[in-house]
Amino acid sequence: MSLRKSDRENGRRGLRRSAAAVLIAALLTTACTSPPRTPTGLPSGTGGADGVGAEGIGDPYFPRYGNGGYDVGHYGIQVRYDPATDRLTGRVAITAVAAAPLRRFNLDFTGLPTSKVTVNGQPATARQEESELVVTPAAVVRGDFTVEIDYAGVPQPIKAILGDGGWLHTDDGAIALGQPESASSWFPVNDHPLDKATFDLAISVPEGLSALSNGTPEGTTTADGWTTWRWAERAPMAPYLTTLVIGDYRITSGSHRNRPILTAVASSFPADGDADRAMARTAEVADFLETQFGPYPFESYGGVVVADPRISYALETQSRPVYGPSFFRAGSDSTWVVAHELAHQWFGDSVSIGGWQHIWLNEGFASYAEWLWAEKDRKISVQSQFDDVYRLMDWSIPTGDPGPANIFSGAVYRRGALTVHALRLTVGDDAFFRILKAWTGERRNGNAVTADFVSLSERVSGKSLRPLFDAWLFGTTQPPVPKP
Ligand code: TRP
Ligand code: ZN
Repeated sequence: MSLRKSDRENGRRGLRRSAAAVLIAALLTTACTSPPRTPTGLPSGTGGADGVGAEGIGDPYFPRYGNGGYDVGHYGIQVRYDPATDRLTGRVAITAVAAAPLRRFNLDFTGLPTSKVTVNGQPATARQEESELVVTPAAVVRGDFTVEIDYAGVPQPIKAILGDGGWLHTDDGAIALGQPESASSWFPVNDHPLDKATFDLAISVPEGLSALSNGTPEGTTTADGWTTWRWAERAPMAPYLTTLVIGDYRITSGSHRNRPILTAVASSFPADGDADRAMARTAEVADFLETQFGPYPFESYGGVVVADPRISYALETQSRPVYGPSFFRAGSDSTWVVAHELAHQWFGDSVSIGGWQHIWLNEGFASYAEWLWAEKDRKISVQSQFDDVYRLMDWSIPTGDPGPANIFSGAVYRRGALTVHALRLTVGDDAFFRILKAWTGERRNGNAVTADFVSLSERVSGKSLRPLFDAWLFGTTQPPVPKP
């Protein structure tokens, strides 16, 4: 798991659910009643019935995350950042579709002052209310619309469950990173995985520094001592999967299977050290995972290793994960974390959760990928890894509804991986890998929830699997290991 052990254990010590709450969760496989649901079981997040977009998208775990009433299609982001003053100047151009006529809507934004806000090219008013930017257009918005926002200021970190996310100022630059939210620290956004969008980014930094982000590198231009780095992510991306890393980096770029691959390691790491060696195996690990999960889902590959010790984790930022420094120590095997973050490209990034309750669909599979990779690379059988974790597991927190304080706990990561293997033992290898490939294929670029995975597994395997998932995801006592 890519959380440091101490972080994971702290997470587990968080909110314990009452026996009654656990029982209810066990009875209802998808334990949410409000808000309104679409046929897929995802919150509709529509809002807008009264012409006002809702201030949250309808996630019961984080009611203020995201916004209702519209769906973003694309973000065009231009930012300039000067590490000498910590000041960010930004312009974002959003294209979106209103779900209903809107006389007002919200964006998530942590409060950099705005200088100009237009909707469909007309001046609009905007006021900041805590972490929401409330926009009132000159005319009611219907159907397709555009929003342009100019802003500037010193971006701030966001307090998160696990380490601070959002914008961090570093010695030589900055790192924008974090989960379950981070994007709103540096651009106005509908910050929830239910509203995935395509992105292009142009980032200007003092000449000599690198500005790394998601997706395909589109080149750099330099003028007047500033270099602009361009990036394009053409597959829909959840906003928390955006990243921006500015500083002094050693970049390696090339192509792999006709796609661009770009990795970067903070220049303060020794050249050809453990970090560079792990990044150099990115393509090999991705190719292995492709044999297990189906075709690699994105247009580019990569990874960035940062040196700032405050980044005590890695994050699966789309097509280019970011890794903290602690994973790379001389003589240690650090490819397990690469396997974890690259597995998220399928599980989490391409197929994204429909709400934070369902986070095991990301972390359970990414943790399982560590076991698959260790079996392939180091001949440690998946079964023996399962046995070790199964024996020591604490079963008190239900994986499928861990509660907001426990979304990054061992119940989600390790018990999630145990659940994946219990499914494999139940349906057999052939059906198991067909399930994984059907999931990543059918749900590619979309969102899904636990109930979707259960029904897909039943359909592909032809077996009734509800009792299995109820016990492994929602029970609070040790389930028996299925007999193959
Ligand atoms: N999802 C990350 C992983 O498993 C770990 C993580 C949890 C994280 N919370 C975070 C990373 C906050 C960055 C910030 O790989
Ligand atoms: Zn993970």
